[in-house]
Formats: sequence, structure tokens, C-alpha cells
Amino acid sequence: MRVLSVASEAYPLIKTGGLADVVGALPAALAHHGVAMTTFLPGYPALAAVMRTAKVVHRYTDLLGVEARILAASIGDHPLLILNAPGLFARGGGPYGDATGADWVDNWLRFAAFSRAAADLASGVVDGQHFDILHAHDWQAAMAPAYLRYAPGPGAPAKTIVTIHNIAFQGRYGAEIFTDLALPDAAFALDGIEYYGGVGFLKAGLEAADAITTVSPTYAAEIRRGEFGMGLEGLINVRADRLTGIVNGIDPAVWNPATDAALPSRYTARTLTRRRNNKRAVETLYGLDTGDGPIFTVISRLTWQKGMDVLVAAIDELVALGGRLALLGSGDSALEHAFLAAAERHPGRVGVRIGYDEPVSHLLQAGADAILIPSRFEPCGLTQLYGLAYGCIPVVARTGGLADTVIDANEAAVAAGVATGIQHDGITPEALSHALRRTIALYARPDRWAMLQRNAMRADFSWDESGRRYATLYSSLVEPT
Ligand code: ADP
Ligand code: GLC
Repeated sequence: MRVLSVASEAYPLIKTGGLADVVGALPAALAHHGVAMTTFLPGYPALAAVMRTAKVVHRYTDLLGVEARILAASIGDHPLLILNAPGLFARGGGPYGDATGADWVDNWLRFAAFSRAAADLASGVVDGQHFDILHAHDWQAAMAPAYLRYAPGPGAPAKTIVTIHNIAFQGRYGAEIFTDLALPDAAFALDGIEYYGGVGFLKAGLEAADAITTVSPTYAAEIRRGEFGMGLEGLINVRADRLTGIVNGIDPAVWNPATDAALPSRYTARTLTRRRNNKRAVETLYGLDTGDGPIFTVISRLTWQKGMDVLVAAIDELVALGGRLALLGSGDSALEHAFLAAAERHPGRVGVRIGYDEPVSHLLQAGADAILIPSRFEPCGLTQLYGLAYGCIPVVARTGGLADTVIDANEAAVAAGVATGIQHDGITPEALSHALRRTIALYARPDRWAMLQRNAMRADFSWDESGRRYATLYSSLVEPT
């Protein structure tokens, strides 16, 4: 089975969030199940070194009006294809916007061209490239199934899957771009590309795909409701028989406290006391008072989705309860400033690092006691999975993948010895405050806390089971029963 995985990010080459972790981990996860996966990425400057040694496999003089080449290289042990289109991708800043965070105004063209090239790869246009399945991730790749539906290449088109990592990002544009997409007029239809009078990239992909997945069973149910579906709930309900929720796994080569090179002290569930060194390192790095009370961490995009405004309002109480906070994140500038102000108000108790730092994110998981994730919605969430693997107890909102992966430490779960974290209902200051109090009370009982940590670290979030589910889905599309 040959699968083309089409995405706008993949760790370790280019990452802004969990999408990259998942796309980066899938090829190895699927290889165990007889799937040969090739990843297809845009040629951002971050891929320059890889592109220099890559081989040209296809040239376009006019890919939606742009000159481009498809290059073949590898990502780890797995094949990688890259769309080298300097007019679209060779620019500073991030994958989606400039250094100030403003989206590129031609994102529609960048990702339409990328998706067009993916559709070409998946329908025999490029010599030597043949795929049974095209697996598109999020709106940036979602036009690929639409191109295969309305304007495929000469070969048999691959079957298609669209995975929704976050339905809040939809790639929605005005109707005026339609003519530049090089699609037949018939594509501008209610069950096609048209979306509320304009053009919807994710919507188009969801209409065209043979199967739809999202990254947890609870989120798969939530997006059928208006509150979470963000305008797509009608379509999701119509296509619900094609939708499954497959929870993300974690890549043990990257996230394993027994082997993690970023840690002062490596440890296992049997050697938890070694975490103390890591905790001291967190205190030093963040200028926190030393002490035995719990350190909470946050490793996150600082956005409304992540409930960060509610956390800002709870910081004074967190400190009053004897907690400390070590935060790593970046995002909305108002939130960045609010966290920096909290650090000034509480020297020694609240430390804030604004920015993106992969090694520090590992240290925090290995040294902090608990990770706060008060998301308003969370399709899967990976930081709670890393927290579990590292014995950094997740304190999470009961939504999406957070609901599916953390077992709340209620009396029954504690008695049964299965609890792995703390959940709260609703994203309000009261709910968060209650969760903080519960966490601090549990932390004050070292036997209970150690039990939580051991349960968390033994929970299995490897890719084994989820990889098998993707492989089964691929097979069902290629050999329908
Ligand atoms: P999302 O993709 O919605 O941001 P996830 O929990 O799925 O949320 O994934 C976030 C990923 O980004 C994780 O790998 C997390 O460790 C990482 N991350 C988030 N913020 C930072 C940061 N400031 N520095 C380093 N890593 C970060
Ligand atoms: C998105 C979601 C996050 C999920 C990640 C990977 O960024 O916000 O919940 O874990 O994709 O699937």
C-alpha cells in the first residue's frame, strides 16, 4: 500500500504545532503495518538544506500561473517530496505568515498550488510516482481531493482521506479567487468548492474525500454540533458515515524520558526521584524560588482556543495556593503581555518565556509537576500525552482528545488505581480554580501523587493501535468490502 501524506508541516523540518508532530510520526507508525508512506511538503526556507541535495522529479512551467518543481528527498528513513516553488514559498517568517504573524495574502494560491501538485502526484502525472491513497491533512492540503474529483490527471486517481486536525482553520476565501483555481465551473457548487457564497478549501476537501478522520473520538462527535463545528457541522452530519476519530500517538524516538537528550536527568516510572534534578533546572531557568510546592507548566500557543485568557485570570489564585508557574508559549500579544505582567507581579513564583523552544518544552515536561491545558476545544492535544509519558500530571478541560486520553482522579478512579490526571468541566475561572485546588490537594499526598505519575507513565499512547486503525482504513478504501 502506497500512501501520499500531504501536509503543510512535518517535524523535524518545519513545525508550528501538533500537526507537525503527527505528520512527522506517521510514516514510521504506518511502516509497521505494511504501509509505504511518502510525505509531501511545501518548499519553505526551512527545507533549503534538504532541497539542495534533492532530485528533480517533475517540472511545471505553469502551476496555477507559477513556475515550480517537485523534488524527491528523504525525511529520516522515509521518502519525502517537496514542492519547490520559490515564488510561493521562499520567503522569511513562518509557513503561513510574516514575522509579525500576519497571514500571507496569497495563502489561497500557495496552498491551492500545493494541493494541485499533490493531486497530480496521486493521479499518474509524475513518472515513477504512484499512490493508492492520498491522505490530506487540514485545509492547506484539502483542495487535493477536490482537484482529484474535478480535474484528475491521466492515471487512476488515488482514494482520498482528509484528516481534520482543527476545524477552526478552514481556508475560507472570496468567490473571486475561483477562476484562478483552474477548476471547471461545475466545481463551484453547493456540494463542491462553494462555501457560504465564497470558496472553502477544507469544505471542498470534506465533500470530495472518500473518508474523513479527526484526531479523537470525542472531537469527532463534538464537530457534529454547532458549538464545535464552526459552520461545517451540517456537512459533517451529512457525511458522518465516512467520519472516524483516531487519537494521535506519540513518537517514542522524540518523547521518552528514559532517553531524552534534552534532560539533565533521565528517568523511568521506577526512578521518579530523579525528576528532582530536572525540577531544579526548571527553577533555575525560570528564576523560581526553590521549594517543595508544585510547579505548574504551560507549553502552548497563547490563544483563545487554549483557554489562556482564563488561566491569566487564575494566576493570582494559583500563587496564593502555594503553586508556581513556568510558562513557555507565544501567540496573541495581549495574552503574552498579560503573562509577562503576572511574572512581574509574582517574582520567584511565576516565570514566563515568550517564544518557541523545543528543548525547553522537553525540560518542562520532565521537571514540572503538572501541565495546565484549559482548552475551550482540543481536537486531540499532544502536550497532555507528553505530560503523561513524562509523569507531568495533566490538568485538562474535559473536551476533545483531552477527554479521551486523561483519566480523572476522582475517588473511584483513585481507588481502582487507574487515575492519570485531573479534568474540569467548562472553561471558567471557577472550574479552573477548583481543578487547581484538587491538584494541590493531591500533590500534598505523596503516595497518591506518585501513583498518578506511575499510572500516567505506564499509559500506552504509542502509535501501535492508532497506526493499525489508519492502516485498516486505507485498506478498506482500496479493497472495499
Ligand atoms: P496545537 O497543535 O493545537 O498547538 P498540540 O498539543 O497538538 O496543540 O501540539 C502542540 C505542539 O507544539 C506540541 O509538540 C508542543 O510541545 C509544541 N509547542 C507548543 N508551544 C510551544 C513552544 N512555545 N515551544 C516549544 N514547543 C511548543
Ligand atoms: C491541531 C489541534 C491539536 C492536535 C493537533 C495534531 O493543532 O489543535 O489538538 O493535537 O492538531 O493532530
